[in-house]
Amino acid sequence: MLTKLEMLYEGKAKKVYRTEDKDRVIIEYKDDATAFNGKKKGTIQEKGFYNAQISAALFNLLEDNGVKTHFIKKLGDREQLTTYVDIIPLEVVVRNIVAGSLSKRLGLEEGYVLEEPIIEFYYKRDDLGDPLLNNSHIRALKLADEEEIKEITAMGFKVNDILRNYLSNKGIELVDFKLEFGKNNGNILLADEISPDTCRFWDKSSGEKLDKDRFRRDLGGVENAYREVWSRVK
Ligand code: C5P
Repeated sequence: MLTKLEMLYEGKAKKVYRTEDKDRVIIEYKDDATAFNGKKKGTIQEKGFYNAQISAALFNLLEDNGVKTHFIKKLGDREQLTTYVDIIPLEVVVRNIVAGSLSKRLGLEEGYVLEEPIIEFYYKRDDLGDPLLNNSHIRALKLADEEEIKEITAMGFKVNDILRNYLSNKGIELVDFKLEFGKNNGNILLADEISPDTCRFWDKSSGEKLDKDRFRRDLGGVENAYREVWSRVK
């Protein structure tokens, strides 16, 4: 039985703790919420619980479908045991429907359904505002080589296919989402979390937003939206 030792890292939404095993860490989900690169701050009641549970359910689903992830198991309500990874500083965004920054950047209407999914890479650098990168930038910055970019791209699209189909059956449209990858002993693993903090989920019948856009855009009903997603995937 591994236990939580000292904290290795505290992010905006999670804390990471060392364990007795150097290849295993414990992740604890917080209720803190931030948006716009930390400029907007708040708390979403019970978010840590909902996101830990939603993320665990989706990582289990992905593992069952052959995606290699850092997730090992749930430990209590807000914690999970995961494989230690060195995070590749890329935010990998996959989009099925235009929303958010893509809508602004390309002048496309939110809700426009893309004929095929789009994948984008952003440099995970708060001090630079997470700029958009292409493959040449990624190679030049030595964040990943071409083989690794290919692997990450294939994993991103595979995760999209699995999640989109699963969530569709739960009455949820998967609009877009952000993934992070890490390395352990040379292997690339899907890491971080998959939750309403990192995805756009729209209710298929009402179109209602069931994700962090409710917090970002002050739409109200934030906790209810997170609880609703949890109740559909638990
Ligand atoms: O803001 P944007 O439209 O680029 O976001 C695309 C997707 O990536 C959304 O689902 C959003 O929640 C997620 N994202 C994230 N963390 C970021 C930026 C975006 O989880 N730093």
